[in-house]
Amino acid sequence: MSPPQSPPTSERSSVSDSTDARTPSALDLGAFPAGFSWGTATSAYQIEGAVAEDGRGPSIWDTFSHTPGAIDNGDHGDVACDHYHRWPEDVALMRGLGVDAYRLSIAWPRVLPTGDGALNAPGLDFYDRLVDGLLDAGITPSVTLYHWDLPQALQDRGGWAERETAEHFGRYAEIVGARLGDRVTQWATLNEPLCSAWIGHLEGRMAPGLTDLTAAVRASYHLLLGHGLAAQALRAAAPAAQVGIVTNHSTVTPASTRPEDIAAAGRMDGHTNRWWLDPVYGRGFPADLRELYGVELPERPGDLATIATPLDWHGVNYYFPVTVADDPAGPVPYAREVRLPDVPRTGMDWQIDGGGLEALLMRLTDDYGARRLYVTENGSAFPDRVGPDGTVDDPERTAYLEEHVAACARALRKGAPLAGYYAWSLLDNFEWAYGYDKRFGLVHVDYATQRRTVKGSGLRYADIIRAHRGLTA
Ligand code: GCO
Repeated sequence: MSPPQSPPTSERSSVSDSTDARTPSALDLGAFPAGFSWGTATSAYQIEGAVAEDGRGPSIWDTFSHTPGAIDNGDHGDVACDHYHRWPEDVALMRGLGVDAYRLSIAWPRVLPTGDGALNAPGLDFYDRLVDGLLDAGITPSVTLYHWDLPQALQDRGGWAERETAEHFGRYAEIVGARLGDRVTQWATLNEPLCSAWIGHLEGRMAPGLTDLTAAVRASYHLLLGHGLAAQALRAAAPAAQVGIVTNHSTVTPASTRPEDIAAAGRMDGHTNRWWLDPVYGRGFPADLRELYGVELPERPGDLATIATPLDWHGVNYYFPVTVADDPAGPVPYAREVRLPDVPRTGMDWQIDGGGLEALLMRLTDDYGARRLYVTENGSAFPDRVGPDGTVDDPERTAYLEEHVAACARALRKGAPLAGYYAWSLLDNFEWAYGYDKRFGLVHVDYATQRRTVKGSGLRYADIIRAHRGLTA
């Protein structure tokens, strides 16, 4: 698919243009229903810092980020955005943007420092205060239980490759649900299990940094089992809980009409999309991928039903499409990405194509029958320039935002049950193996001073939210 060409820069809105035309009339905001959630998203390890404060135990990301050579520039999350101490300021920033929802994750090792065993009350108290602060600001918390920061003690016992980790995850969900469930109704069990399993256990570029196909497939299985156990535990501990899962996806296009490339695209679609969606929607693990991986699943009776525990909602994280060619000598799934020339790209070198988001939302709607969808992450990194007046004008990020909000509007017009959009991210933050060089925030963070500055894209997002509210008031 040829990506929709972004409008020439001169037509693109930017802060200067939007200052006097603060109603983004170019966007089909009428497609968004009243009550549509406009939010922002972050994750614990990427913003909190305070990694050894108030009893927090080490996670696999503490270990991995302090492994020489693992993270660009030797960066790590020890301080990050110091959100653990600055969260009132960050809640105020969200209030200023006008968002009505905030997707945060809870650090498992703050609550249960060894992953099982004794509860660390000060750790859970932090999230209790944060939830109350959000609610006082009129912002609905959407809580993700696992955004990759597994307690190291569980990794020392095999981590997600072992079934016990899924069982401990269920107990963690019960504890957190019991404490926050009277105020938090929107819950996600996992964030992007694909990244935990494939990037963390197969490619080795994320924690725990393994390159082991058997461990990766076992981890993928136990992550989804843990999702089902946590969904059941949350509902038991918090009857009002609306439980979902957040998965990341790309549209996959063959690089040519050669049968080999078409087959490669089918394998990559399985690896990226179907392996995660089919089991959650009751179809089991795709047979073609099971054969491709050649790893025996650690299945026990009843597991598939647990994994397919019904969802109240599904969160889709989308950033870019992929084009692949056959790569018989390559790693699983024997499909290598082909870099298309002359397409717009972000600072991550990711292709920009809002059409991919529209297609994925329609696939979840039409092929999987999702009842309620959220775009739980969508955003872009670009090298920001802080102006002499201290402002941060980022027209590329604004254009990316508008292109993908427009894609959501098209999906809504086609019947997608889309209930919200969460911009990734509220703040510039620790971008995993890329460290702090890659900035996704609507708000700029000067890491030396922790000064926050709302970027032009953040102002634009506020315009969009305000304009939509004006339409549906
Ligand atoms: C992910 C994670 C985020 C990333 C963001 C940009 O989707 O990889 O959920 O933590 O920071 O996606 O890569």
